[in-house]
Amino acid sequence: MSLPKGFLWGGATAANQFEGGYLDGGKGLSTADVVTAGSHTVSRRITYTMPDGTKHTQPIMPYEEIPEGAVCDVQEGYYYPSHIGIDFYHRYKEDIALFAEMGFKCFRLSINWGRIFPNGDDETPNEEGLKFYDDVFDELLKYNIEPVVTISHYETPLTLVNKYGGWLDRRVIDFYVLYCETLFTRYKGKVKYWMTFNEINIMGMLPFFAGGVIKATPQAKAQAVHHQFVASAKVVKLGHQIDPENKVGLMIAYGSTYAYSCDPKDQALAMETTQNSHFYSDVQVRGYYPAYKLKEYERLGVKVEMASEDAQTLKEGCVDYLGFSYYSSSCVSSKPVGNETGGNFVSGVKNPYLKASDWGWQIDGIGLRIALNRLWERYQKPLFIVENGLGAVDTVEEDGSINDDYRIEYIAEHIKEMDKAVNYDGVDLIGYTPWGCIDLVSAGTGEMKKRYGFIYVDRDDQGNGSLNRSKKKSFNWYKKVIASDGEDLSND
Ligand code: BG6
Repeated sequence: MSLPKGFLWGGATAANQFEGGYLDGGKGLSTADVVTAGSHTVSRRITYTMPDGTKHTQPIMPYEEIPEGAVCDVQEGYYYPSHIGIDFYHRYKEDIALFAEMGFKCFRLSINWGRIFPNGDDETPNEEGLKFYDDVFDELLKYNIEPVVTISHYETPLTLVNKYGGWLDRRVIDFYVLYCETLFTRYKGKVKYWMTFNEINIMGMLPFFAGGVIKATPQAKAQAVHHQFVASAKVVKLGHQIDPENKVGLMIAYGSTYAYSCDPKDQALAMETTQNSHFYSDVQVRGYYPAYKLKEYERLGVKVEMASEDAQTLKEGCVDYLGFSYYSSSCVSSKPVGNETGGNFVSGVKNPYLKASDWGWQIDGIGLRIALNRLWERYQKPLFIVENGLGAVDTVEEDGSINDDYRIEYIAEHIKEMDKAVNYDGVDLIGYTPWGCIDLVSAGTGEMKKRYGFIYVDRDDQGNGSLNRSKKKSFNWYKKVIASDGEDLSND
């Protein structure tokens, strides 16, 4: 079997993890620019200064709170991986030529808000920033590669954090809407696929990453994400008004959650855990808050302030498609089991039937088919797998080759299940963009050694290396997969 003609094969990236050029072309600082590197065992940290001049840091995981009055800033003596990234800002032509060589039909990238509105609350956009993305889109279109754009991917202009407290402040909705209006107008005819917020559900875990929110209470997170829901809905409507060709989607982090056993208590817990992800897509696809969340807010004493027009705004701004990331599945147990494992910003109980990556993310191709079916049954809206892949340590052999068979095996297993979901189950899936198609900085750990790419980038965790690009074994393999529309997955 193969995936339909016109299927959007490609790869995915995010500005703050690969562009670099953090102050080039008039760009302002963003939240990502004040987050240091970490590792598998040591959390990345946010740096900030208090009004009395004392300098501090705060781990991103587990995130507690940055105190009121703190000013997040870049400080001497720390390494901030976003500042150089992998230097796509200066090397985009070379990188796009490599994507074209693999046969990409689309390329997912995010726009760095601070390139367009350096402070976030500026009245007029920064022409140099707009021009940069014009050049990138033109380069992609030269090779018939469709840009797929995330409007906000884990970076919020730092001024919006230090001056307004990030998305906790309702005024940020208007700044974001102006930013989007600027993008839709400028790139009309060049970009059709948009996503409003990367992994909007991460607000529940990492509010600083998700929206520059320094508070960590359930109340603050609920309020901030409400503002993002309203902003997203306004922007869906606006996107259609500016260009009826636009498809504006949501993006959530998604994984299959299994009950650890057939104990009904475990099953109920799995249901509740899944609801935690569905809450975000329910609001954006259906246009209203689901009852289970309203009840939870009642229990927690959370009172979301809503403007009188918000309900109508949500109803009028339902998304066109669902983008989601899928890396692994997890198990939940109602009783202590004592063998926790990692995942994409989440943890769960180890599944005895699955292997895991070196970072403890459990590898589960079948879980992708389950996820696709669950989302399709629930919403009947086109689905787009905008992230999937294996973070692994790659070895460069003496002859320069990189034999990443483990990555080929992982992606092949997931494509097989994707194929089943489409051709056996009838799911409407429009595309597949494996994460970090070119090696980039890890969001969770800030490492370079956690690599996902088909293209190797010579850079290490301390920022050393030539930044030269080279093809891994998976490069030609993925090229063949795309050319056969997913039919030829052999690794020879
Ligand atoms: C997703 C994010 O959560 O997972 C990406 O959208 C991130 O930004 C990716 O890089 C993989 O996670 P990590 O921590 O391995 O980089």
